[in-house]
Amino acid sequence: MLSFILIPFFLSSVTAFTTIRFSSIRQCGPFNVTFLGTQQTALPLTLTVVPFDSSAVPLSILLPNPAWRSKASVGVAITFLPYPAGTTFIASLDDAQGWSTGFTSDIIRILQSDDMSCVSTAEKAQTYATKPPFSQCQPFNVTFDPIQAVPPIVRLFVPNGQALLLNQTGESFDPGTIGFTMAAFRGQPAVLLFKDGSDRLQSTDLFTVKGDVTSSNRCFPARPDGRDSEKAQQAGLSSCDWDYRFHC
Ligand SMILES: *[C@@H]1O[C@H](CO)[C@@H](O)[C@H](O)[C@H]1NC(C)=O
Ligand SMILES: *[C@@H]1O[C@H](CO)[C@@H](O)[C@H](O)[C@H]1NC(C)=O
Ligand SMILES: *[C@@H]1O[C@H](CO)[C@@H](O)[C@H](O)[C@H]1NC(C)=O
Repeated sequence: MLSFILIPFFLSSVTAFTTIRFSSIRQCGPFNVTFLGTQQTALPLTLTVVPFDSSAVPLSILLPNPAWRSKASVGVAITFLPYPAGTTFIASLDDAQGWSTGFTSDIIRILQSDDMSCVSTAEKAQTYATKPPFSQCQPFNVTFDPIQAVPPIVRLFVPNGQALLLNQTGESFDPGTIGFTMAAFRGQPAVLLFKDGSDRLQSTDLFTVKGDVTSSNRCFPARPDGRDSEKAQQAGLSSCDWDYRFHC
């Protein structure tokens, strides 16, 4: 129930498309992203792809500006993802500031094909470590070698839901440990994306946020006490799109 009122808030400060569709994808086949909206979006757009498979590297793909035809208010981007069949991932369409422009995709699995030409063997970075369980509004630590690495930028992705930048907690531990707060609801599936000082990306596996009725709500930015249609409109969501994840 809480997520129903929370989503518009998360989106209210960012530019959002009214519709974003992510296609299915075969190994080395095209991956299409179609987006629709009237709002001015900070270009260029970036497609952030976050795989759960432990051997796949997350990607940040810059989409060429012509992908967005503002007159028709429709954009199409077609790209290839260098992942083998069976890899599962979610994707987010981000603006130039790195804000998500709408809901993230559902969980997508790369389907079989005979084409192996695009499959990358790049090693996944293992710079950052963090341990489940992750619980609603509870702190968690990210550890790293302070001599080799800088503290990461951490984003939280919920499939079919929000993509958020997580703030570091004020507390400072030893130089190789920093704290964050799990700003997702209990029961939600989620994945974390770490970015290092050289824009290299690393993702966690998909996990389910833990908690129960006694879990704190304090980490959520605000709790408007009803359905706030004005904010939803500012975010570029029609009521139907807004209800989409709640079975419109
Ligand atoms: C992606 O877009 C191309 C060109 O518009 C189209 O031919 C193809 O069928 C689309 N693929 C999927 C998986 O939607
Ligand atoms: C994070 O690390 C600090 C210092 O190493 C420790 O005191 C704290 O309990 C850890 N927090 C969590 C949630 O594990
Ligand atoms: C992070 O901090 C900013 C500025 O204080 C705040 O607006 C935002 O809601 C915070 N994000 C989260 C996920 O708590």
